[in-house]
Amino acid sequence: MQESTYNNMNAARSSKRWDNWEGHRNQINRILHERVLKSSSTDFCKAAIFGAGNCDDIDLNYWLNNVDELWLFDIDLESVQQGIERQNIDTKMIDKLKLFQIDVTGLDKISFFNDINQMLKDSTPIKKVVSYIRKIANNLEVIDDLINHYGSFSFVASSSIHTQLLYPHFNQMLSNTKDKETLMREADYLMSTLVKNYNQLLLNLVKENGTLFIWTDEFELSSDRGNLHLLPQFQREILNSNYTFLSKFIYNFGLKGAVECNKDLLSKFPNFADRLIDKTYDLIYWIWHYDLTKHYLIHCFIIRL
Ligand SMILES: C[S@@+](CC[C@H](N)C(=O)[O-])C[C@H]1O[C@@H](n2cnc3c(N)ncnc32)[C@H](O)[C@@H]1O
Repeated sequence: MQESTYNNMNAARSSKRWDNWEGHRNQINRILHERVLKSSSTDFCKAAIFGAGNCDDIDLNYWLNNVDELWLFDIDLESVQQGIERQNIDTKMIDKLKLFQIDVTGLDKISFFNDINQMLKDSTPIKKVVSYIRKIANNLEVIDDLINHYGSFSFVASSSIHTQLLYPHFNQMLSNTKDKETLMREADYLMSTLVKNYNQLLLNLVKENGTLFIWTDEFELSSDRGNLHLLPQFQREILNSNYTFLSKFIYNFGLKGAVECNKDLLSKFPNFADRLIDKTYDLIYWIWHYDLTKHYLIHCFIIRL
């Protein structure tokens, strides 16, 4: 089950994380206040966050103060519940929270991981395993778990989830497989379908004149990757609003799920660049200081529908 992989990852949270992520969280609050809430209508405000996880990038009291209902979605609901407890939510607001466990890929539902496991156990020829993955990638549809909520959210947020789809669990499952490299390459192909379907799910949920609010971790700067020296340059390019440099860099070197997300959004909204000028859309970059040795370049899309 994928759920336990994500639960283990979320549970590996450092006790300093809430403090380490303060700048990232405040940036999200700022965007929520200045760009998302201001543009939303004054009707009943039903909001969603996908990838709520430990809720360290979500200041729940702030969000709850500004909406009428807040739906938190994640495959790992246990971590979401613990995150809520840590934030001491004002009792007057707790009823606004709704939690929903979901696998946005739909892979668990079609028993994808079990099938792969079984094929590997049976020493199925690798060509057959590859063609099974390809068939799934070509036929998988948007999940229908939330069909009753389509068109009902004033805004829908997505918290750094695109890069987390599929890979962590698949990578772990294949750790002792000799054909891991071939299968991970095939996972790249499947990833593009997963991202497209996930974006479509988010869009289906937003109501007319509502807003899509996505932030993704596009590129990792870390001591593990030996590229921490690039951090000052990124900070400079962001300060100088050098979006050409940043978008080209991401396109060439970004994390797979994030690059696929960008490509898909730009193809779903082909007039993206023009709408930036009339402020219907926004594109914002910042650095997420994850911990002392790891930072991510964040790319945030705001699309008003
Ligand atoms: C990097 S975390 C986002 C940060 C998070 N908001 C926090 O503060 O801890 C990504 C989240 O996506 C969730 N996730 C990954 N794959 C998922 C899937 N297929 N369906 C739903 N949630 C998923 C993970 O459980 C994790 O909580």
